[in-house]
Amino acid sequence: MELKSGKIELRRLQDKDASRMAEFANNEKIFRNVRDALPHPYSLEDAVTFINRCKEQDPVTTFGIAFCGEYVGNIGIEPGTDVYRKSAEIGYFIGEPYWNMGIVTTALALITEYCFHDLGLIRVFTGVFEYNTASMRVLEKCGFQKDCVFKKAVIKQNRIWDEVRFSKINPAFMDKDSL
Ligand SMILES: CC(C)(COP(=O)(O)OP(=O)(O)OC[C@H]1O[C@@H](n2cnc3c(N)ncnc32)[C@H](O)[C@@H]1OP(=O)(O)O)[C@@H](O)C(=O)NCCC(=O)NCCS
Repeated sequence: MELKSGKIELRRLQDKDASRMAEFANNEKIFRNVRDALPHPYSLEDAVTFINRCKEQDPVTTFGIAFCGEYVGNIGIEPGTDVYRKSAEIGYFIGEPYWNMGIVTTALALITEYCFHDLGLIRVFTGVFEYNTASMRVLEKCGFQKDCVFKKAVIKQNRIWDEVRFSKINPAFMDKDSL
């Protein structure tokens, strides 16, 4: 399945994405909204290591977001295991110069469709730090529902924050109670 809508495409990360990935990810405004697993400061070597780690993925779970053919950010899923094997957690960021152009809203819609249609997943979800209103808006625009608030679940930059949890259910499974 081609993951493309207008000028926006999800594709495998490529070696040539490393320099722009490092440039975009090395931004405190991105770091403050994501897990500490994202190095900060973020180096070219961090980007190269990350891209190399993604090369073996089958099926692909980490995508580069391309806008007009140019790499602008990442979107990926962490599939669940055991009883959560039909769920996946979604994460994303794009470079600050590309914010508020509707790019991640489209990228999220594409990866959600990939999860439901190609991977046969039932539920996709994510957790947003309480102050990240832009990400919450993206999720709402893509039809995710706000499930609940995990009070004081997150320690970020030495402060304690609530996490707001969002999910979307594959419509094909909405009324099913068995596979
Ligand atoms: C959050 C992020 C992914 C959004 O990507 P994006 O491509 O700019 O998103 P879109 O343009 O599709 O939509 C952004 C929406 O948020 C709104 N928005 C932006 N800043 C906002 C703010 N401070 N308060 C409220 N809404 C805001 C925009 O107006 C837009 O909504 P609209 O279409 O109704 O006007 C991007 O800013 C980013 O990478 N941030 C850092 C990393 C991050 O937060 N990752 C997600 C972790 S859960």
